[in-house]
Amino acid sequence: MCGVVGYTGINQASPWLLDGLQTLEYRGYDSAGIQVVSPSGNLHGVKCAGRVAALRERAAAANPTGTCGIGHTRWATHGAPIDRNAHPHLDGSGRIAVVHNGIIENFQELRRELIANGHELVSDTDTEVIPHLIQEAWEGPAKGDLAAAVRHAANRLEGSWAIAVICADCPGTMVVTRNGSPLVVASTDDGAYAASDVMPLASVASRVYQLQDYDIATLTPDGQIKIVDREGRAVENPVALDIDWDASAAKLGGYSDFMAKEIAEQPEAIERLLKDRLGEHGIELDELSLSNEELAAIDKIVIIACGTSYHVGLIAKAAIERWARIPVSVEFASEFNYNEEYLVTDHTMCVVITQSGETADTLSAARRMRGMGCNVFAITNVLGSTAARESDGTLYIQAGPEVAVASTKAYTAQIVASYLLALRLGLANGSMTRAEAEKHFHDLEEIPTQMREILSRRWQDKQAARLFRDKHSSLFLGRNVNATTAYEGALKLKEISYLHAEAYPAGEMKHGPIALIEGGFPVVAVVPADHVHDKTVSNIQECLARGAAMIGVATDGDEKVAKLCSEVLWVPPVADELIFPVVAILHLQLLSRYVARDRGFDVDKPRNLAKSVTVE
Ligand code: G6P
Repeated sequence: MCGVVGYTGINQASPWLLDGLQTLEYRGYDSAGIQVVSPSGNLHGVKCAGRVAALRERAAAANPTGTCGIGHTRWATHGAPIDRNAHPHLDGSGRIAVVHNGIIENFQELRRELIANGHELVSDTDTEVIPHLIQEAWEGPAKGDLAAAVRHAANRLEGSWAIAVICADCPGTMVVTRNGSPLVVASTDDGAYAASDVMPLASVASRVYQLQDYDIATLTPDGQIKIVDREGRAVENPVALDIDWDASAAKLGGYSDFMAKEIAEQPEAIERLLKDRLGEHGIELDELSLSNEELAAIDKIVIIACGTSYHVGLIAKAAIERWARIPVSVEFASEFNYNEEYLVTDHTMCVVITQSGETADTLSAARRMRGMGCNVFAITNVLGSTAARESDGTLYIQAGPEVAVASTKAYTAQIVASYLLALRLGLANGSMTRAEAEKHFHDLEEIPTQMREILSRRWQDKQAARLFRDKHSSLFLGRNVNATTAYEGALKLKEISYLHAEAYPAGEMKHGPIALIEGGFPVVAVVPADHVHDKTVSNIQECLARGAAMIGVATDGDEKVAKLCSEVLWVPPVADELIFPVVAILHLQLLSRYVARDRGFDVDKPRNLAKSVTVE
């Protein structure tokens, strides 16, 4: 989704703004722009639809000069992704420039009012009302005080926003504010920086400060940052966040794309997550804010998530129900938010699964669960994210920055994190013994080795990708937890190769999707050596009878599957059925990547998608 960067200091602003925007590309966007102001008060901007690379070319030609500036990557919500709608947007006088993340819900009323007051708006965006409102305040009650003008304007807005503002009449000053959309600032010897997440700041600072809703920060070229709250009181101790990963973690480091890098990083991510988790008292999960007695009393768990994290939720449900014997419901956050009849018990726990910790629907759902009296536990990757800040407890998966839009390492690490939770709950309520929990933990410790083995077999995925050439559709099948492996595999393929992929529980396939199958139609069947193996093999037969090109995802040595399938993606044997989905998914991640690359697509930045969906 949209990204914001800002800088004021001793250096030219454009180079860092462009680099910063490039780091934010992972969020997904369709246009980009920068605006800088020179010390003598000349505003100069460039913006265009398309990639930051195109913006760089325009900037190289236009050479915008100035040591204070703002930049933006836009993911279109209001108005098509065309140059005119790209940010920054200017006020009527052309002296105030604004970039904005989020959605202004009352922009229609504000727009009507501004037009009635004689303003001329030139874009289709909701954002454009903001510079005009700031202009009215600047010329009126704020009397030339930019921070005051921004506060006046923000008080008129409804919705969510992270805003950065510069003005030709106070060159060198940048004002930023937020409500509902994240915004961080950093002070350095070279000046002061702002951004919508820590990623662009990792190369310039090791500590950033998070603004709280309605805080207004004024940044000046000497690196000073003055923060006031909505009442205008100074914020003395803003929430500091130390960036605990090296900036190189967000760089390609020899890989051709971030997706390849992140797929390969999975074994280390799981090792990090499991480190020191088996302790004297069983599974160590101090991040839970509940006592043993409170954990033992939990009688219902509601998991809230979106997208790939929702698939994690489905697998977490299987683990929690099996190991902790607690009934679990898994809800799409966007659906849950509008289900007024939702029932919870006095001892319901809410588990929020969100890689970014910023997905708008997930955050609203978590707030609603808290409002219903539930303890909220977040599983997330992003330190200090909103989900982490607003939850009673947070388990960080420590997967390191995930840059590719299609989630890979966060998926597997979140599953393993949910397994730790399941084991901890099972121990607390007596559903399993210490010895059983230890056995399961040791099975988890095998995952990195099994993952490495799959990575060494990537040629199998490359070969299987050929079966998707010139095809428009495909089917993914699996049973039990591996129905979810099929859902996630199909989602990956859709996301990055734009090839339709239907995913179904294998036994349900004959009630509809089987009609899709014709000669050469690719069908992926996830068929481990588990208690439903033979049932899934029967489904493979049904597909073959209709001419499908079968790809099996099977356990080493499975001769039945080897005979039936054109290609087999082999998975080393696993000690527990719950381990298979964590390991086997690597094949489907690799397969999607090969199919997408065969088709010539950018696997890291698929069209229309955003890494972190901060609008409802
Ligand atoms: C977007 C991303 C997905 C992600 C989903 C939920 O749609 O493209 O990869 O799974 O959001 O994101 P979250 O950060 O809440 O896990």
